[in-house]
Amino acid sequence: MSFETSIGSIEIRNPLILASGVLGTTYSTLQRAYEAGLGAVITKSIGPRPRSGNPNPSVFALQEIRSLINSIGLANPGYQSFRHDIEYLVKSETPTIVSIFGENQTEFSEVLDGLKDLNILGFELNFSCPNTEKGGSQIGTDSETVFNIVKTLKSKTDLPLWVKLTPNVSDIIEIANAAVRGGCDALVAINTIKAMVIDIQTKQPILGFKRGGLSGSAIKPVGVRYIYDLYESLGGRIPLIGVGGIYKGEDVVEYLLAGATAVEIGSAIGVAYPENMIRFITMKIKKYLKEHNYSSVGEITGGAHK
Ligand SMILES: Cc1cc2nc3c(=O)[nH]c(=O)nc-3n(C[C@H](O)[C@H](O)[C@H](O)COP(=O)(O)O)c2cc1C
Repeated sequence: MSFETSIGSIEIRNPLILASGVLGTTYSTLQRAYEAGLGAVITKSIGPRPRSGNPNPSVFALQEIRSLINSIGLANPGYQSFRHDIEYLVKSETPTIVSIFGENQTEFSEVLDGLKDLNILGFELNFSCPNTEKGGSQIGTDSETVFNIVKTLKSKTDLPLWVKLTPNVSDIIEIANAAVRGGCDALVAINTIKAMVIDIQTKQPILGFKRGGLSGSAIKPVGVRYIYDLYESLGGRIPLIGVGGIYKGEDVVEYLLAGATAVEIGSAIGVAYPENMIRFITMKIKKYLKEHNYSSVGEITGGAHK
């Protein structure tokens, strides 16, 4: 039974990828996630300069709905110090996608130029960053900006570029089309959904930054819907990667049926031993493939559209 997965020109041993951010920036934790059985890892999003985090608490667990709300934002060491960790990852033969962000095209270009010589699989562009040139709304909410950034970055490297879409838009298809016109190699959906929690006793927002982003089980149906819509609209022209609320093998199968070629797992890996979780997920997918007479995981993609 084959688990090998091609996402455009990228080939990985299975379709399970570590989502950006949940395990931080040190190479050893990312390497361990790969050794636990994932197909590849994505780094925390790296920007042009070191950025300190938002005030604590910056992560709050919503246990009753197996979800997290976080306001970690784009805290990161900056690409110059992070290069070192990526070099280690690459040396340890961990298939690595580097997530990058910037507040405008110039910043995105600076980070890409500073890392593109590394032996990585490709870049994931995190567009959930305030757009300083357009009044502070997220970069990924403006199709013209998305098109321009993707096109510029594409002209600078032959490495694959994945565009990670924010769900906080009124029309994700318009943004996706702009990314495809710009030349991206895959679309990733979704990042966290705008959310907040209030302590009713203190009457104050719980997160130090007040507002945050929701991840985990609560957002899985939203992610599945976006992948389904993207697959229907783009007709399988571009690989899709599903992310949001994956904890079990059944969740992975659901994303694949909706149209994803691969998936990313975030919150679940932040709270469990990855070795056990990945083993259980893989066992469940194998069982599903067997019961439905598939010989490879790739055959499931888009099954819900037939
Ligand atoms: C603590 C935390 C930090 C995150 N940091 C990033 C990040 O740096 N870049 C990014 O693109 N997404 C980031 N995300 C979003 C995840 O990559 C993922 O898109 C989202 O959590 C949904 O997947 P999940 O439900 O499996 O967690 C972060 C999520 C969490 C919970």
